[in-house]
This record gives sequence, structure tokens and C-alpha cells, in this order.
Amino acid sequence: MGLRRGVTFGTAVQGGWLDTEPAYAAMVAAEAALLVPEWEGKWSALQPQEGRFDFAPLDRILRFGLRHRRQVRGHALVWHQAMPDWLLTALAEGPQRARAVLEAHIATVLDRTRRQVRDWDVVNEVVADVAGSDTPQAGPGELRDSPWLRALGPGYIDLALRLARERDATLRLVLNDYGTESDEPWSLEKRRRLMRLVRGLLERGVPLDAVGIQGHLQMSERFSPEGFRAHVEELRSLGLAVLITELDVREAPRIAPDIAQRDAAVAERVQSFVAAGLAGGVRTVLTWGLSDRESWLLRDPDVARRDGAQHRGLPFDEERRRRPMWQALADAFATLPER
Ligand code: G3I
Repeated sequence: MGLRRGVTFGTAVQGGWLDTEPAYAAMVAAEAALLVPEWEGKWSALQPQEGRFDFAPLDRILRFGLRHRRQVRGHALVWHQAMPDWLLTALAEGPQRARAVLEAHIATVLDRTRRQVRDWDVVNEVVADVAGSDTPQAGPGELRDSPWLRALGPGYIDLALRLARERDATLRLVLNDYGTESDEPWSLEKRRRLMRLVRGLLERGVPLDAVGIQGHLQMSERFSPEGFRAHVEELRSLGLAVLITELDVREAPRIAPDIAQRDAAVAERVQSFVAAGLAGGVRTVLTWGLSDRESWLLRDPDVARRDGAQHRGLPFDEERRRRPMWQALADAFATLPER
């Protein structure tokens, strides 16, 4: 898939598999022009103890990227998950301590990766989920109630972005989130919240270059191509790049008995979603894995199916054979003019 019609296609990878599974590595090299570490770029992997950084897992991906001349994007400097216990303790000790550990982490990680990683999800999943969504947040806030918010207040997002820009003047700074993809009321409200946050950041002169829309699609949710395209266009109108950063598809609780019907429904949604994003100005599309074999959708009990079936939400199946979703991506890219 790689580079097509001006679109950069990529995927989330795990360094351990790149090093130990030749078939996995070959598939990634054949399909992805851009890689994102699935977990190796997160705080718990990079700084498991205060001041003790471990870049070995991330280096596996960076070495693969160099060997195959693939770009690597960074994910994620500030997130409410993958936080080691020492960090949670530090954040609870007050804003000065919180700011100090944040600054040290951003400085060390950006300095260490700057030659190869030119695009980071600086803040990830900072907008509160809305009642009605599958992960609603209690309480009135429009920002996720997280250890970061409690330690530093709403300004932690401004601070993280400013610290990243101060450390690296040309890094692309990305705010990455999920749950604005569909036409359900909670998704439309989350879009509104995201736009309010982004407009506020820009009005305050906070450095921000792009928004990542994760794209963990749910077939149980209604989708409007026109609405999603308008959402992307509104972000683009603010001068921001827009990326689809973690595309995969969770099938509905009730699925057709026929595999071909299921795959066709997933492919249709993917083609519609990606084509709408491209029409709005997206030019980077990453899936969250390439084949079912390594998908969190099969691993994570929070999203795995309870009926014994497995989500068929990636371009390749467990045997690493292309499925209709692969063609749907190619068809979506083909909606753009030849370059
Ligand atoms: O931590 C171990 C590491 O020590 C070990 O060497 C390695 C060997 O495979 O495994 C690591 O384990 C787990 C890792 O996934 C690899 O499977 C971690 O314990 C586990 O927490 C981690 O889960 C990841 C999760 O984010 C939390 O970081 C998932 O793979 C990953 O798919 C998921 O991705 C998130 C995005 O970052 C944000 N958007 C939602 C998406 C899905 O939840």
C-alpha cells in the first residue's frame, strides 16, 4: 500500500515481532511507508523508573525503519494510560513536581529520537468521553479526568505542547484522540469538545500542527461521510494537518453468519470513512496493525467479541491474506487524482 496518490499509508508495529517474525516483518515492509510503535513509545516503556530510560524496545522499530527506509512517528508522550507507578506518585506530589517530570521526559525522549522521529502524538486522548459512548466519563468536564489534569489543571495540554516545541522547533506536534468518527450523538458532542479545545489552544498561541483522528470504527455506530468530511475540513481550516492514526473496525454485536458478508460490510465502511477523510484533506492513514493475528481487537478483553467470533477489522486476516478491507483502502486512495 505504502505511498499512493499522495497518501502515506502506515501501521502500528511491535518491535519484538519485527525482530523475530520474518513473515510479519515482510508484510510490514511490503505494505507500510510509515510505522508507529504500538507500545514502545509510551511512558511505561521509555521511562519505567524515574530517570532510568529504556529505549531498547523502541530502537527495534527505529532500526527497522532505517533498514527499510520507513518513517516512524512517535506515540505518545502524554497519555492517561501506560503510566508507571512512580509517575502517578510524582504527579500526586504537586504541580511543580509534575511539571519537572513532564519536562524531563519530553526533553530526553525528543532529544533521543529527533533524528528519526519528526512527528509525535504529544497528547493522546485528552477529551472526555460523552454519556452514551461505550466509555462515558462521569462529571461535567470536557477534558478527560486524568492524573495529568488533576496534577496540572487544564493547562497541562498547553504545557506539553509548549515544552515539545521549545525542545524541537520543527517537530510536528500532534493532538491525537478517538470517538469523533461517527454520527452518533456522543460522537458529535465529542467533535464539538475537540474543536473547542483545539480553537482555544490556537487562540492562546499554543504550538499545534496536527490532529490525529484514531479511527477505531464501530460498525454499530451510524456514519455520515459528509459529516466526517466536514469535521476534517473544519480542522484543516484552522491550518492543521489531519491524520487517521489507528484505523481498525469493531464489528457489531450481531454479525452476519457469512464471512464474505461481514468482510464486505467492513470494507464498505472503511472505504466510505477513508474516502471522506481524504476528501476533507487527510493525507496520512495508519491502521492499528495489519492482520488480525496481532490486533488488540482480539487481545484486549475490553473490545474482544464475547460470542466466540473474532473481529475482522484489519486489511489482512490471521493467515496474513488480504481481505476486502485492503481493497477498500486502495479504492479510497484511488478517489484522489494521480500525482
Ligand atoms: O509491557 C510489555 C513489555 O514489557 C513486553 O516486552 C512486551 C512483549 O510483547 O509486551 C508488553 O505488554 C503489553 C503490550 O501492549 C504489548 O502487547 C503491555 O503490557 C500492554 O499494556 C500493551 O497494550 C497496548 C495498549 O495500547 C496500552 O499501551 C496495546 O498493545 C495497544 O494496542 C494499545 O493501543 C492504544 C493506543 O496506544 C491509543 N489508542 C487506543 C489503542 C488501543 O487501546
